[in-house]
Amino acid sequence: MDIFLDTANLEEIEQAVSWGVLDGVTTNPTLLPKEMERTGKGPREILEEICRIVDGPVSAEVVSTDAEGMFREGLELAEIHENIVVKIPMTPEGMRATKRLRQEGIAVNVTLIFSPSQALLAAKAGAAFVSPFVGRIDDVSGDGMELVSQIVQIFDNYGVEAEVLAASLRHPRHVVEAALVGADIATMPFSVLQKLFHHPLTDVGLEKFLADWEKAGRPEIRTPPSPSESR
Ligand code: G3P
Repeated sequence: MDIFLDTANLEEIEQAVSWGVLDGVTTNPTLLPKEMERTGKGPREILEEICRIVDGPVSAEVVSTDAEGMFREGLELAEIHENIVVKIPMTPEGMRATKRLRQEGIAVNVTLIFSPSQALLAAKAGAAFVSPFVGRIDDVSGDGMELVSQIVQIFDNYGVEAEVLAASLRHPRHVVEAALVGADIATMPFSVLQKLFHHPLTDVGLEKFLADWEKAGRPEIRTPPSPSESR
């Protein structure tokens, strides 16, 4: 399963890339303004920088609601970098825009998916990615992961090529469950990615190893120099 960050924060993205675990990024009209405020940069500049930092798909969302407007915005966003994936909301107008962008060879991530039928329609319209929102379904007492599982099964049944991108993940368990039900991608906030590293037994284990090595007098691991070198 690929791991994406759901953020526009350049520092977070750089850190995740340095760990060697990041496959892509998703942004949205809530996340980009936060980074604009933090850095004073414009949305285009931020998206350009994200594409420079990450070697993978970077979702950028349109804000028009009519098909023509979404299509035009999608063309502009796709011009920023070849890795840009245009994020389109799951509406009938959105599907018209998805179809046209696909015809132009532009990858689309259909967002705000809350039912298996929406995912199926998005894939038929030509989406490369469909994004079910797990946490927001859980928020209203539904079962967000069951939705991901159903979409994975439907896509498997018919060999649908669109990738299932589990979004709105709120904690490490969501990420593990997304992997267990077969999501292609999990996108998550930086805080969730950080939590994936931690286990108390890792900390305790490391402390014990280091203490034991200290007790043994920190023996030298380097090969001792050969007699000719030591002369
Ligand atoms: O990017 C879309 C999605 O991941 C948003 O998550 O936590 O605002 O529901 P959240």
